[in-house]
Amino acid sequence: MTRDHAPVSESPGRDRAASFPTPLVLAGAGKMGSALLRGWLADGLDPGAVTVIDPQPSPEVAALCAERGLRLNPTDAEPAGALVLGIKPQILDAAAAAAALAAWIGPDTLVLSILAGKTLADLKRRLPGARALVRVMPNLPASIGRGATGAVGSSEVGPDARAGAEALLASSGLVAWLDDEGLIDAVTAVSGSGPAYVFLLAEALAEAGVAAGLPPDLAAQLARATVAGAGALLDADPREAGQLRRDVTSPGGTTAAALAVLMREEGLPALMTEAVAAARRRAGELSG
Ligand SMILES: NC(=O)c1ccc[n+]([C@@H]2O[C@H](COP(=O)([O-])OP(=O)(O)OC[C@H]3O[C@@H](n4cnc5c(N)ncnc54)[C@H](OP(=O)(O)O)[C@@H]3O)[C@@H](O)[C@H]2O)c1
Repeated sequence: MTRDHAPVSESPGRDRAASFPTPLVLAGAGKMGSALLRGWLADGLDPGAVTVIDPQPSPEVAALCAERGLRLNPTDAEPAGALVLGIKPQILDAAAAAAALAAWIGPDTLVLSILAGKTLADLKRRLPGARALVRVMPNLPASIGRGATGAVGSSEVGPDARAGAEALLASSGLVAWLDDEGLIDAVTAVSGSGPAYVFLLAEALAEAGVAAGLPPDLAAQLARATVAGAGALLDADPREAGQLRRDVTSPGGTTAAALAVLMREEGLPALMTEAVAAARRRAGELSG
């Protein structure tokens, strides 16, 4: 599913593959880069149109390239349809200075960056040849096609570049386009870092189960299945989260007793607001 403030239609992978900008170069095939790559290949990206640049690829990435016929670390470079930057932010200066990246960029190359904290202006400064630049903030569930990604484009991103970026990002889940790059730190704080908050919820629920008398293994199993099941229900049911919560809360019942604690003045909503504000502040501090 893709969203641009209002929902737009879902397009199956094979349809999306027709819009992938090619040839496609992925610079940095680590955790996130290789997850994106696997999603594109699963969606029908032609392996012969892909180049992977990673000086020390993992054995899994090297095997994927060998088995599927992707080019790995070629010595020649020419402008690509898309250059996807999956390197660590602190590598950008070195990679750009070595001119290793610039050689892949022509006037029509879409440059898509997942580098946390690197602004469109930072990218433009390091890669002056880049015109259509898209900065994105993906999250970990992108690795199973269930990500939530915020994206913002430079002023040179026209309809074709945007459609190409949209197709590439939609392979890993929901895409939300931002009009204002200033919102990306808040996106980082909500969806970029958000999976960790949900994992903490599962941990805390398991610990609370132990405190309530359950054996640790059973508490962990129940907490994990509950968080995963509630997430799946939230995905499958169009009702708002608040409505789903109200619908499972009988007045005077057990859930109401727990929610009275969680929702008190200094409870979970207040804590979450404080946590997201802290993450947003930190994202701002790390930028540059
Ligand atoms: N993981 C997440 O949940 C997440 C979420 C949002 C955004 N991001 C962003 O995604 C980016 C990558 O994160 P990651 O977690 O996937 O990191 P990672 O696993 O360390 O991946 C970075 C990859 O780039 C390789 N590399 C190093 N120098 C290179 C060069 N000069 N040219 C090409 N490749 C090079 C690294 O190789 P070596 O290991 O040999 O150095 C590594 O394979 C970061 O910018 C991060 O901000 C990640």
